[in-house]
Amino acid sequence: MPRKTFVAGNWKMHKTTAESVALARELRQLLAQVRDRVQIAVAPPFTSLHPVAQALEGSNLEVAGQTCHFEVQGAFTGEVSAPMVREAGARHVILGHSERRQFFGETDETVNKRVHAALKAGLLPIVCVGETLQEREGNRTLEVVSRQVKGALAGIGADVGKTFTLAYEPVWAIGTGKTATSRQAQEVHAHVRSLLKELWGAAADEVRIQYGGSVKPDNAAELLSQPDIDGALVGGASLKAADFAAIVKAKG
Ligand code: 13P
Repeated sequence: MPRKTFVAGNWKMHKTTAESVALARELRQLLAQVRDRVQIAVAPPFTSLHPVAQALEGSNLEVAGQTCHFEVQGAFTGEVSAPMVREAGARHVILGHSERRQFFGETDETVNKRVHAALKAGLLPIVCVGETLQEREGNRTLEVVSRQVKGALAGIGADVGKTFTLAYEPVWAIGTGKTATSRQAQEVHAHVRSLLKELWGAAADEVRIQYGGSVKPDNAAELLSQPDIDGALVGGASLKAADFAAIVKAKG
């Protein structure tokens, strides 16, 4: 069975609640006709999660959190737990984004704990991996990505694993306007798939692997034409309804 393309928009720390709801409504209209072809999700900031989920109710657009804490509740000022994200209306949660690793101290180990917490709360993880420019230039891309994949997925079996989405986001391509070439991306995606096969056997063929890093309307079709690129995790271009809609429709 071919894997259904999955495109998600990571809004990062953009959009007030009013702006978020307006964008969600615009997307709902623009994307109504792709209902059965592409799975679509948007990840607004926490303050907008519930209003966006309400604005998208009954539509073909799903909602994702941008992270979640690994404890259910407690004295963790500023954090939000997986059950809270789920209850606010999210179906998915992005975990281990490089900005979380870089600026907020997340490690393979804490990403793994968040993965387990997310599953327990009924959220579907979108697990991000990717190398820095220094690591790529030092020929360490596959080694770094292997460590991140194995670290994030420790203790996860095949039956659960097949519901996962992985996102390969080379750090040097995020927000820089530099995109990995489709060949560079496909090479890493195929590597991630082979790691998933080691972990989960045939179930690895069901896992979607998104590419993220300066995906735009004009490069999306080329990236999505690669055999192991099953979708996109879009940052900047997901903030403009027309651009995000064009990316969702890029595969034709
Ligand atoms: P950009 O599309 O802005 O490069 O961001 C990619 C990203 O980090 C998505 O999670």
